[in-house]
Amino acid sequence: MTDKKKVVLSLVQPSGELTIANYLGAIKNFIKLQDEYDCYIGVADLHSITVPQVPADLRRRSREVVAIYMALGLDPEKVNLFIQSHNTDHLKLYWVLNSISYMGQLSRMTQFKDKIARGEDNNNAALFTYPVLMAADILAYNADFVPVGIDQKQHMELARDLAIRFNSKYSDTFTVPDAIINQSTMKIMSLRNPEKKMSKSDEDKNASIFLFDDANAIRKKVMSAVTDSLNNFDYNDEQKGLKNLIDLYSAFSDLSAQEIIEKYKGQGYGTFKADLAELIIADLSKFQEKYNELIKDKDKIDEILLKGAENSRRKTSRMLDKVYRKVGFLQIK
Ligand code: AMP
Ligand code: TRP
Repeated sequence: MTDKKKVVLSLVQPSGELTIANYLGAIKNFIKLQDEYDCYIGVADLHSITVPQVPADLRRRSREVVAIYMALGLDPEKVNLFIQSHNTDHLKLYWVLNSISYMGQLSRMTQFKDKIARGEDNNNAALFTYPVLMAADILAYNADFVPVGIDQKQHMELARDLAIRFNSKYSDTFTVPDAIINQSTMKIMSLRNPEKKMSKSDEDKNASIFLFDDANAIRKKVMSAVTDSLNNFDYNDEQKGLKNLIDLYSAFSDLSAQEIIEKYKGQGYGTFKADLAELIIADLSKFQEKYNELIKDKDKIDEILLKGAENSRRKTSRMLDKVYRKVGFLQIK
């Protein structure tokens, strides 16, 4: 029966410290899907070297992301947890997909343009073809669904385009994947500037709540989050800062925006913010406790990763054989 289950795949890069935006925008959705689907959830170490990394830190953080996944609620008995570089099929497919990717389309990718615009003297070729590797991650598994935040939408379009292009050039091979994007948490905004997304690479550490922030830091960041001076407790696009905080409240409490408005209508923002901070603290402190337990047992994590790598290779190897045959690479029995 397991073969019949639809496939869900997503990866998160082990660069920088994860924020509640990564949790709400992506990881929380993986958790919701784990009972129903055949899930492959990875650590995108190959993607992370498109920006400079300290090798020892990258190695450590790759294991940490796995412990984070588990502490947030991914069950390694249900989900295949793996490290991207442990399955070279991703790279084999990447090369083939490069051969049907157009320079023009890649140069229009906003994430690439943003990174180049920052002018950090790091315009390497991998940064340019990064979305092709992401497409390979997805197509190698014939993934049906890919849970991500809205910032990955353009990359998802490319993955779909490449699947369709390959299928029509050679013959039906790949499933055309759909992004799963949660409307209210698809773009969590910076606490300092509600026009900008919350990002783990933001230089202003007060703009983001990190999964390992302590209670005081969380209180301070939420209380000083930028809102407005309208003093009107409402959920709309004119009050972006408040809207973002209501989205956060909703995600951490499971109340709808409407219910939250009814609860705080007519009050200043202060009580609401203080309650929001406590909700986040309660959730994250439980997470941190679990994480601290899990990270102690590195052997257990490695065991999970070994199994994850085997399952991941088992899933992709037939696909890669098929692709290599279709493009005309000689295969000798
Ligand atoms: P990254 O931080 O780029 O490795 O992203 C890991 C996952 O978190 C991806 O699925 C992103 O789409 C998602 N994500 C990153 N930032 C945000 C954000 N501000 N709001 C919602 N989702 C996000
Ligand atoms: N590019 C994604 C990000 O920065 C990470 C990623 C790599 C990914 N490969 C993927 C996400 C495959 C979904 C599916 O967030």
